[in-house]
Amino acid sequence: MKDESPYVHLNEKELLEIIDSQNLPGHIAIIMDGNGRWAQNRGLPRSLGHQAGVESLKDIIKLCCDLKIKVLTVYGFSTENWKRPPEEVNSIMKLVVDYLSNEIKELCQKGVRVNPIGGLGGLPEKVRETLSMAVRQSRDNSGLIFNVALNYGGRQELTDAVCAIASSVAAGLLNVGQINTWTVSNHLYTAGQPDPDLIIRSSGVSRISNFLLWQSAYSEICITDVLWPDFKRRHLLQALADYQQRERRYGGLKLN
Ligand code: IPE
Ligand code: IPE
Ligand code: MG
Repeated sequence: MKDESPYVHLNEKELLEIIDSQNLPGHIAIIMDGNGRWAQNRGLPRSLGHQAGVESLKDIIKLCCDLKIKVLTVYGFSTENWKRPPEEVNSIMKLVVDYLSNEIKELCQKGVRVNPIGGLGGLPEKVRETLSMAVRQSRDNSGLIFNVALNYGGRQELTDAVCAIASSVAAGLLNVGQINTWTVSNHLYTAGQPDPDLIIRSSGVSRISNFLLWQSAYSEICITDVLWPDFKRRHLLQALADYQQRERRYGGLKLN
């Protein structure tokens, strides 16, 4: 949300009053950006920015549960983020392990189902073990589906889907003529889930950075200047109020 948005001056209570609970996005996806700049602005190491960002994530998950959002996807680490210095990569991986180990009980109490997406095989063993633990412990929950995108890249996801579809064709299980957009959707990490209605990116950066390339075809995009560690419940509510003003046309004409 840019500073000129009419919602930036409203508090949580005021925002809750104007938000229509019947018109909430089924799937919210968030590019949690700006941790490094938040830390740099305070003369702190970048790792402390990531740590502070985890607190925002906890707040946002709670709010999504309160609002009964069906799916929340968060971009935690991209296939390109390996280019960062090893100390930073290690600090992020450690945060993933600590966050899930410390929070899984509370996530389960809230009915959250943890669903990691991305090139999970490429993650360090400790991260993979922790993800497996979180998936196992939360798999019977029926509340919020929490997609955690780690070593995630939209191009890699599409490439994996192409390989899987090609293998089915090669094995004689599928004819080329049967392949349609549903086939592709169904081979993505998000198979069976609705596409994101709303994609939020914090820190004022206006790009998609290889996130949900296929699924974002008709997502509403909300860019906020707020850095991720400063992004709290109020900011998600602002994004929801903004979302509810959008006219979604899907290539058609205005209704009514
Ligand atoms: C987002 O914050 C978190 C990850 C990419 C892991 P950044 O670390 O990209 O923060 P900035 O963009 O440098 O401020
Ligand atoms: C996108 O942010 C990835 C995550 C938030 C995990 P980046 O900070 O890596 O994106 P760029 O490099 O600015 O495009
Ligand atoms: Mg960034």
